[in-house]
Amino acid sequence: MRNTILGIFITATILCGILVYFIPQLGTIILLSISAILTLVAIYDSFQTKHSLLRAFPLVARLRWFFEEERDKIQQYFIEDNLNGKPINREKRSIVYQRSKLNKETIPFGTQHDVYAKGYEFVKHSLFPKDHHHILGEKVLFGSDKCAQKYEASIINISAMSFGSLSKNAIKALNEGAKMGSFAHNTGEGGISPYHLQGGDLIFQIGTGYFGAGKSVEGKRVFDDAIFKENAIRPEVKMVEIKFSQGAKPGHGGILPAKKNTEEIAKIRKVEAGTQVDSPPGHSAFSNFEEMIVFIQKVRDLSEGKPVGIKLCVGNNEEIETMMKAFATANNYPDFISVDGGEGGTGAAPLEFTNYIGTPLIEGLVFINNLLKKYKLKEQVKIIASGKAIDAFDMVRYLALGADAIGMARSFMLSLGCIQARECNLDTCPVGVATQDPDLVKALVVEKKNIRVKNYHDRTIQAVKEMVAAMGISSIADINATHIFRRKKDEEIVSLHEIYLQKKETI
Ligand SMILES: Cc1cc2nc3c(=O)[nH]c(=O)nc-3n(C[C@H](O)[C@H](O)[C@H](O)COP(=O)(O)O)c2cc1C
Ligand code: SF4
Repeated sequence: MRNTILGIFITATILCGILVYFIPQLGTIILLSISAILTLVAIYDSFQTKHSLLRAFPLVARLRWFFEEERDKIQQYFIEDNLNGKPINREKRSIVYQRSKLNKETIPFGTQHDVYAKGYEFVKHSLFPKDHHHILGEKVLFGSDKCAQKYEASIINISAMSFGSLSKNAIKALNEGAKMGSFAHNTGEGGISPYHLQGGDLIFQIGTGYFGAGKSVEGKRVFDDAIFKENAIRPEVKMVEIKFSQGAKPGHGGILPAKKNTEEIAKIRKVEAGTQVDSPPGHSAFSNFEEMIVFIQKVRDLSEGKPVGIKLCVGNNEEIETMMKAFATANNYPDFISVDGGEGGTGAAPLEFTNYIGTPLIEGLVFINNLLKKYKLKEQVKIIASGKAIDAFDMVRYLALGADAIGMARSFMLSLGCIQARECNLDTCPVGVATQDPDLVKALVVEKKNIRVKNYHDRTIQAVKEMVAAMGISSIADINATHIFRRKKDEEIVSLHEIYLQKKETI
């Protein structure tokens, strides 16, 4: 094959040479030049020793790389149908775009879902639906009896994504959207940047790198009371979240790729610019549950009594039960637990961590909810669930299984214009959401996108209310697992209550 390809190019170049000899015009000269260049590349390919495929198929094999590089786009634009796109299918992406832009949300001609397929889920409605204009429960009060400053939060808030993983324009638009819609914006573990301070409510996240809450001492990141307090008592900060893990990479600290670690970000995080910043996998401020409870109380005191939560993806069940027991024994606990599912998103994560570590949200949520009930902590500790919650049904399902509020990350990215190009770790995000490249960041116009963030939030809550009204109940808080059903086998449909809440106390 190699000799045939080389032969074709060399012959073509000789023929072009003859053509130029007899018809010496610009067109034939260009043809000869192109043919000569391609021949030289083919000769180079066939003699280089790095790529076997190129040696065997000079020049032609380069097409393969092109298609490999572009396969995600080809898949998304030409092959993907409404329901098979991953991680977020077209139907879900479209509903976010429609709600964000206040476009028509209806779909024609019936469902594309196979309602007889195993795993199909649906809500049973009532013959006496309520008026959706009067449905209650879109706010929930955070803060246990240990809190001095409780916070009334929306049931939908922006889940943690830091300045660093997202661009300054993305952070600004999210924060302004949160302000317009009266909901909360989680800072992510990168600290509080000026772009977070546009007036929207903040959930200040502390990760294991303690960015905005600590400093480096002998190469180790440590919590610092004064640095933390300065940020935590800001009026914009309504709650604090101590991150243990996130579903996309549990047991692995945050990763800020070198390309995205600009001078500005490095200054905010107090690290060296242009280097990859890996947060340690665990906290240095405590090393067991007793110390952790003391730390939570310290953080609560330093923030002058604001609700303090922990974020985790459920891992070792015994460990988590021991933690709950410790809360009950100490009669001190976090004010909320953010449960992230293994299906959660990230800016950058190792493949094995994303694919194979961490309990999926439904099982993790049910487990945490059951333990809170078992140790009589449910009244004090709220649950925020995150993991591919995109439309109102996703929300209803998680609320039914024990969540008090929902955290959303990727759907808010979509509302900003994310097209799921999946280049968040490369600094080449084509729509300016997940990049620090100044030219690409400009693509995201804050004044146009902030309102989309608000619209998506508001319209999704509206859709939840409409579903709740159809179920014949008056408040979002009354949704429970007896309302939702799943096809378990061909001819068997069971409620989520039967599947998750009836048979076992814990999963
Ligand atoms: C770009 C990006 C950055 C993220 N950064 C953080 C972070 O700093 N801290 C954290 O706890 N989770 C982080 N997450 C996880 C989200 O907060 C959320 O838990 C997860 O993506 C599940 O929500 P989703 O399915 O709505 O995206 C990040 C997710 C994305 C997509
Ligand atoms: S468009 Fe691509 S790179 Fe940009 S945020 Fe979305 S998935 Fe990430």
